[in-house]
Amino acid sequence: MSQLPLTERTVITRSRDGQLPTDAPEWVYDIDNPYLHGVYAPTTVETQSDHLEIISGEIPKDLNGAYLRNGPNPVYQPKHNHHPFDGDGMLYGIYFRDGKASYRNRWIHTEAFEKEAEAGEAIWPGVMGPFDFNLPGFPIKDTSNTDVMFFNNHIMSLWYNAGIPYQLDPRTLETTGRENLNGQLKRALSAHSKVDWEKEELIYFDYFDEFPYMSYGIADRNGKVIHEQPIELPGPRLPHDIGVTPNFVILHDCPFFHDVDLLERTNKRINTFHRDMPTRFGVQPRYGKGDEVQWFECEPCYILHVVNCWEEGDWVIQVGCRSTNPMPKADAEDGDLSHMLAYMRLEANMYIWKFNLKTGEVVEGDIDTLNTEFCRSNPLYMGYKSRYSYNQYIMTKADDNVGTLAFGALLKYDIEAGTLQRYDYGKGVFGSEAPFCPRQGATRDNAEDDGYLVNFVTDTNDWQSYCLIFDAHNITPGPICKLRLPHRLPYGFHANWVRGDDIYKPTANTGLPS
Ligand SMILES: [Fe+2]
Repeated sequence: MSQLPLTERTVITRSRDGQLPTDAPEWVYDIDNPYLHGVYAPTTVETQSDHLEIISGEIPKDLNGAYLRNGPNPVYQPKHNHHPFDGDGMLYGIYFRDGKASYRNRWIHTEAFEKEAEAGEAIWPGVMGPFDFNLPGFPIKDTSNTDVMFFNNHIMSLWYNAGIPYQLDPRTLETTGRENLNGQLKRALSAHSKVDWEKEELIYFDYFDEFPYMSYGIADRNGKVIHEQPIELPGPRLPHDIGVTPNFVILHDCPFFHDVDLLERTNKRINTFHRDMPTRFGVQPRYGKGDEVQWFECEPCYILHVVNCWEEGDWVIQVGCRSTNPMPKADAEDGDLSHMLAYMRLEANMYIWKFNLKTGEVVEGDIDTLNTEFCRSNPLYMGYKSRYSYNQYIMTKADDNVGTLAFGALLKYDIEAGTLQRYDYGKGVFGSEAPFCPRQGATRDNAEDDGYLVNFVTDTNDWQSYCLIFDAHNITPGPICKLRLPHRLPYGFHANWVRGDDIYKPTANTGLPS
C-alpha cells in the first residue's frame, strides 16, 4: 500500500498518530482528499451481529424499534474530484427489542451502484462534475445516500439532490426496488420528504432546472398519491427541507442557487449566495393548489433543516437552523478543493420565523448563536407546538483545528426556557444525527421529552464505533447505555427512528438479523 505524505490538509481528518483505518479500500491511500481519510474514509465492511458488547449501562426495555442511518460510502475510486456528498449510499441499522440489540449495515443497490458493479469501476461523476448529460438518469450519480425513513411498509432511502426513492426491506436492509408511489411518481423526490405519523402521509417535493422549478405532493399510507401540484419559483433553486403543520406546508425559496446557463456551458454547477435577495417562505394550505401559496420575504439566508413548524391563531411558526454564510470564503491554499472545503464548514444557528397569514407580517430572529445543525424534534409533535430541539454541535477551526463538517457534541435546546444541555463526545470522537425516539407507547399526552436519543459515534483514536443511548430528559451526564458496534463506521448524513410497531409488524417480509 502506498501512503500519501502527511500534508496539513490530510491531517485534519487522519487520526492523531497519522494512522488510517485498516478497513478502507486500498485506492483511498493514493488520493489526497480529506473526505476519503480519517473519519470520512469509506469502509469495505458489510456485516451483521446479534451480539453487541455492552460497554456501559443497559438497553431500556421500552426502547422498541430501529435507529437507521444513511451515509456516503464510495465503492470505486472516483473518476474526478471526490466530494463528501458523493459516495454510494450505505445504511447502518441498530434494532432494539426487549432490552436486546442487533446490528447490520448494507449498501443501497441503486441503479448506478449496479451498473458500476457490472463495469467494475466508477461511471458517474459526482457533485463537483463535470456533469455528464449523456449518461442514463442523472448527470451525476444518484447515490440515495442522504436520508432514510419508514413508509408504505418499507424503508425508503433518498438523495439530497432530489433523486429516485429506493425501497429496502425493513429488517434485512436488502434493496427491493424503486418506490414509485403505485406508478404515480412522475419525477424525483427530495431527500427531506416527511412522514407524518399522525395522518400517516408522505409529504414530498421535488425541484428541477425547468419551469415551474418545484413540485409538491402527498401520498397516503399505502403510497397512493392523493395530492400533487406544481410550485412556480422565479428560477431553479436548491430547497433542502419543507415545513409541515396539520393545515399548512412551508416551502423554501432561498437565494443560494446555481446558474443554469453556466451549468450548460461548463458542465459544472456553481452555487452562489445572492446576499441582495430575500429568502422567501411560501405558506400554503396542505392540500392547496399552487396559486394559494402566500409568500413571505425574510432576511437573506440558506436553510438546510427545519426543527418543527406549528400554527398559533393567525400565525404559522417555523423553527430551524439558518445560515447567513452558506458559501464561506475559500482558502487559496487549498487549491482545487478550496470551494468544497469552505462549503463543508457549515455555519448555522438556531432561528425562528413567524408568519402572519392575515397581515403578511414576518417576525424573525436568532434563538441562539452556537454553530449547530442536524436539528430534530419529537416526531409525535410534528406540526404541533414543541419546545425541544436535539442538535449536533458543528465543530469549527477553534475546536481542535477541525474546520470541516464534523459533529463534536449532542445538544438539547429548550426554546421556551432558553436553556441548553450539552454532551461532548470527546477528543477525536465524532457523532451522527440523533433523532428523538419516543418511549414505547408514548403519545402527545406524555411529556415531550419522554423518550431517548440514539446515535452512532466513531472514535478516531482507535477506530472503534459505538451506539450511544441517551435519556432525552437529561443528556448532560452522558449516555445511559453504550454498545460497541462490530466495525468502524464512516461519518454519515441523516438518521431516523422507526417504531417497533412498524418495523416488527407481521407484514414486514423477513426475520430480524440473525
Ligand atoms: Fe439534509
